[in-house]
Amino acid sequence: MNNLLKGKRGIITGALDKNSIAWKIAEKAHEQGATFVLTNAPIAMRMGEINELAEKTGSQIIPADATNTEDLENLYIKAQEILGGKIDFVLHSIGMSVNIRKKIPYVDSNYDYFMKGVDVSALSLHKMLSIAKHLDAISEGGSVVALTYMAAQRTYPFYTDMADIKAMLESIARSFGYHYGVEKKVRINTVSQSPTKTTAGTGIKGFNDFYDYADAIAPLGNADAESCADYCITLFSDLTRMVTMQNLFHDGGYSSTGVSAKVMDMLYPEQE
Ligand SMILES: NC(=O)c1ccc[n+]([C@@H]2O[C@H](COP(=O)([O-])OP(=O)(O)OC[C@H]3O[C@@H](n4cnc5c(N)ncnc54)[C@H](O)[C@@H]3O)[C@@H](O)[C@H]2O)c1
Repeated sequence: MNNLLKGKRGIITGALDKNSIAWKIAEKAHEQGATFVLTNAPIAMRMGEINELAEKTGSQIIPADATNTEDLENLYIKAQEILGGKIDFVLHSIGMSVNIRKKIPYVDSNYDYFMKGVDVSALSLHKMLSIAKHLDAISEGGSVVALTYMAAQRTYPFYTDMADIKAMLESIARSFGYHYGVEKKVRINTVSQSPTKTTAGTGIKGFNDFYDYADAIAPLGNADAESCADYCITLFSDLTRMVTMQNLFHDGGYSSTGVSAKVMDMLYPEQE
């Protein structure tokens, strides 16, 4: 334990079960001395697993639908009461596409579902930031991290509408990062994570095949949820205090690799 987050207060969204990236981030934040509240959509709470995490990390749970501004206001007010001061770090780890869930091809996207995906997975970051700013709930130099995927920059056909939604999420991080940075020195970054075997991840058609492909491309292999958690901890810490408005790849080198010898061998195994 290095106590990188000692004395820091946080809000962690998105821990659904032990596979969730947010679950690992909560465990690591606790190890590093932070205190925080956990939050998720009321419907996710009913599954009950989050209680185990709350117990393990000594945190309280505040239900909030990230599309609902009243819920989010309540979240910041209660979190500050419980933790005893302004919030130093916020994790946005929220993603959901009804088009993906229903396996609807991108070109046939249902627009009501598309809008729902935008609201849940991208606008929710804007809402979380805007409400925090109005309530002045985040301390100076505070750090906000949202999780994203490289389909925002390059096309992955199976990622359908979430590709466009992640592009919007990353743009919100930059745009808000400017305004919040100028006014309160609050930092906002996105972490672009490798494919990871979670509920949201494995809901994507062909996920397992793609997982193996990405693993064969990346020189270091796919980054797992635990290493993503470690990276996010550094971003919440003061060691990265001048990093803001960035989309940071956490993918074992995948995003900088055109092709790997491993993949060529998979395609043409008989050639020397
Ligand atoms: N798994 C991957 O391959 C992968 C790769 C890159 C980025 N990501 C991103 O990481 C983040 C976390 O996903 P995960 O893979 O840990 O999966 P996950 O399914 O464990 O987490 C998604 C979370 O979003 C929450 N959520 C959905 N609708 C909500 C709402 N209206 N209000 C509040 N919370 C809501 C869910 O309850 C769940 O806890 C997402 O943004 C996802 O897009 C995942």
